[in-house]
Amino acid sequence: MDGQAAIYPGTFDPITNGHLDIIERAVACFPRVIVAVSQNPGKAPLLSLEERIGLVKEAVAGLDRVEVDTFEGLLVDHAARRGVGVLVKGLRVASDFEYELQMAQMNRSLTGVETVFMVATPQWSFLSSSLVKEVARFGGDITSFVPSEVARRMKEKFRGEA
Ligand code: PNS
Repeated sequence: MDGQAAIYPGTFDPITNGHLDIIERAVACFPRVIVAVSQNPGKAPLLSLEERIGLVKEAVAGLDRVEVDTFEGLLVDHAARRGVGVLVKGLRVASDFEYELQMAQMNRSLTGVETVFMVATPQWSFLSSSLVKEVARFGGDITSFVPSEVARRMKEKFRGEA
């Protein structure tokens, strides 16, 4: 078991400043953080898996001790494959907690993996990938909510659609 690492999983469609904030704070708590990009075809992501991974890698390029990988299927199986016993999740609002609590309990029942919750910095507590996509789709300015490369990519993606 790699007692040194924690996995921060998500769809990252796309990565936002809220995700980045959690990653930076997780790195301060764990010797290594693995950002695991879920393939998640069930959610029909806007961005391809390769695009999502590329944007996450670009966003964390300046951070030491952060690795980016990907998984399909159950998160607990991926954690077991990587020999990691701790998951990190971010909580923004009370409704996040209800869903995350259920997932944390299910995941722990399946393999014993622990979940550590980090509360969102208030500045980002309203932020979600879905809202960022909606604002970008209709031509709104998302530059203060996402890394610059994400803003550029989203603009390109929705060009002509608004
Ligand atoms: O960024 P998201 O979409 O909120 O991330 C959700 C994610 C990918 C962490 C969650 O859907 C997940 O763990 N998916 C993998 C499938 C799985 O293990 N499902 C059972 C959860 S109890």
